[in-house]
Parts: sequence; structure tokens; C-alpha cells
Amino acid sequence: MKHARIIVTHYGGPDALQVLEEERPEPKKGEVRVRVLAAGVAMPDIMARQGIHPETPRVPYTPGWDLVGEVEQLGNGVSGVEPGQIVAAMPIHGAYAQFVCLPQSELVPVPSGLDAAKAVSIILNYITAYQMLHRSAKVKPGQRVLFHGASGGVGTALLQLGRLAKLEMYGTCSSRGASAVSELGGIPIDYQHQDVVKETRRLTSEGVDAVFDPIGGPHLWHSREALRPGGRVVGYGNTTALRGEGLGSGRTGRRNRLHGIPIYALYIAGGWLLPGRKRIVPYSIQTLKRLRPAQFRQDLVALLGLLQQQRIQPLIAQRFPLTEARRAQELLEKGGVIGKIVLVPERR
Ligand SMILES: NC(=O)c1ccc[n+]([C@@H]2O[C@H](COP(=O)([O-])OP(=O)(O)OC[C@H]3O[C@@H](n4cnc5c(N)ncnc54)[C@H](OP(=O)(O)O)[C@@H]3O)[C@@H](O)[C@H]2O)c1
Repeated sequence: MKHARIIVTHYGGPDALQVLEEERPEPKKGEVRVRVLAAGVAMPDIMARQGIHPETPRVPYTPGWDLVGEVEQLGNGVSGVEPGQIVAAMPIHGAYAQFVCLPQSELVPVPSGLDAAKAVSIILNYITAYQMLHRSAKVKPGQRVLFHGASGGVGTALLQLGRLAKLEMYGTCSSRGASAVSELGGIPIDYQHQDVVKETRRLTSEGVDAVFDPIGGPHLWHSREALRPGGRVVGYGNTTALRGEGLGSGRTGRRNRLHGIPIYALYIAGGWLLPGRKRIVPYSIQTLKRLRPAQFRQDLVALLGLLQQQRIQPLIAQRFPLTEARRAQELLEKGGVIGKIVLVPERR
């Protein structure tokens, strides 16, 4: 039986994404074959396609950090999982496919009755947001926080979880995202027309307790300026690399997984050395997943529970068929997307 999966043929623009038809994968010992119901599209997919994300595999590879799917076939030695069961996983790449084979240990049961697109939005974005708030910044009710990229996938997750944690929230976004940020309980700051540091200080006088920064590079320094003494910046991305020096569509590039990392390290060290008791700490979901898999599982189960109780409501920007993965990435790359883009593979 055939299935479709997307492959990245070279490092570069959206033309690198091709649809491949091939035989369905067979689960090896300890693996489970999962029929993908929803796969998330995220900025790290685009950075990897351009060769500049730390998790960039060698080409050709199938992108896709996270998925929700239905267990279809069990490999030898698998027990405790039933065909038909709905599961979530974050394989980091490989989710842009109709079928994937994953080790049983990667699978987390999804409570029944949940929309697969909403459930998949929980994985990369909400775990990132949850762990940064509660494990990196250790926020407390009443604290003031600034979220950069507040109308994006991780940004809207931060706002929803920050509201549950009773934080006073400020969020940078372009004018297109302002109403979404307000609706989620944040005070929008238009990063394209306002001086973000000045505006944050005007609104909070001494600065905020924590800033969450996906932009990286010299932007980390501005984030640090928005802190009150003793505060911390959680740095979790390098969007600067993409928007500043990103490869143009159709241009081929090289794999450079360390892109932007040395400069990042310099800012982190500077944050520790300069006076003011203001720190810059890095966050990486994949590092925490590898170092503390039980914690990753525990946080995913907790978040799926919050979704089931409707205490969080992921915003779905758009659903695309799997074969339109290229259009989905082009849309995300263009900017102005509110919430999460999800691929929904066709059933055969
Ligand atoms: N460290 C980790 O573990 C981890 C995990 C997940 C994601 N990430 C990183 O998180 C970042 C965001 O990912 P995402 O999937 O949420 O992307 P997304 O949905 O595209 O959101 C990015 C947001 O950033 C906004 N933006 C762009 N430049 C900005 C600036 N200078 N100031 C303020 N906002 C700006 C965009 O708004 P406009 O389009 O309106 O400009 C957009 O809303 C990426 O860098 C990704 O690599 C890291």
C-alpha cells in the first residue's frame, strides 16, 4: 500500500519541498505505525529547510516536529497500545507524512473526543510555552512578563498559559496581531512602529520580571533592557537568522546547524557578567526532551488535560492538506499568521 510523505530535497526556499509517493513504512521491533491525523507546521521547520536550525537533518529528509495520529499497526514486542488508539508524539522530524513508524516510547495517549489539529498545536508550542514559564522563568501570580512574537504559535500559547498563571502580560506583535493579543489578555506593543523598551518601561515603570524572546541575536539585548533588576530573559529562538539573512526562494544553501549560536552564547555570557542581576537563559525543547523525557511526557499529559477541560484553546490559523505543505510553509514564512498552521493528511 502506498502513502505520501513530504521531503526536503535541498537546503533553501519552499521549492525544496516535494511530495514523494512510496510504500507505507513497516514498523520494526518496538515500533508502532501511526496514521497521521494532523501534523504541525512551525518556524523551526522553515529554519531546518534552510539548513540553519540546530536540528537540521541531512537531505533528503521529511520535516515535521509534531503529530497526532491513530495507531494502525504494532511491531513485534509492543504491548499496552491498541490499534485505533489516538496518540501524540514529537519526533522532531518526519511528521509531514500519511504514515510514520515511531518507537512505542515516543507515544503519549490523547484523551478521546479532541480535535486532532487542536491537540497537535499543544505539542511543540504549548510544551515550549509551559516549560519556559514554569521551569525556566518560574513565574509567580502577579508578575509582569513581556512576550515577543505574541501573536504567533508559541506567543499565543504563552498568552493562554500566562493568563492561567495570573500574569500581567505585554506582547509585541505587528498591527495585524494586536486584536488577538488583546483578546488573549495581553497588552499589545507594535514592534514595527514603537520603541518596545521605552513603551514597556512607560507601561511598567521599573520593567518586567521576565521577557520571552524568540528573535535572538542583538534583540536579546533589547529584551534585557526591558527587565527590572533581578529579572530574566528566556531566549528560545533565532528568528533574526531567518528574516535577516534567510535564503531566498529557490536558492540552495548548506547545512549550518550552528548558525547564530556563537553570538547567542556571547549575549548569554554578557547577561551574566554585566551588573543589574539580569540574566539571559536559553531554552530548547529538544534538549529538555532528551535530558528529561519523563518531564516532557508529564507536561504533555498535563497540557492535553487542560485542552480537554477547555482551559486552553489553541488558535488554528489554517488547515492544509498534506500535499500542500509548500503553500503552508510559504504562508508561515510570509508572516502575519495568527496561531498555528496544521497539515491534515488525506485519508486513503
Ligand atoms: N527553543 C525552543 O525549544 C523552541 C520551540 C518552538 C519554537 N521555537 C522558536 O520560536 C520562534 C517562533 O516560532 P513560532 O512557530 O511560534 O513562529 P510564528 O508562529 O511564525 O510566530 C513568530 C511571530 O514572531 C513575530 N515577529 C517576527 N519578528 C518580530 C520582532 N522583531 N518582534 C516581535 N515579533 C516578531 C511574528 O509576527 P508578524 O508575522 O506579525 O511579524 C510572528 O507572530 C521560532 O524562532 C522558533 O524557532 C523555539
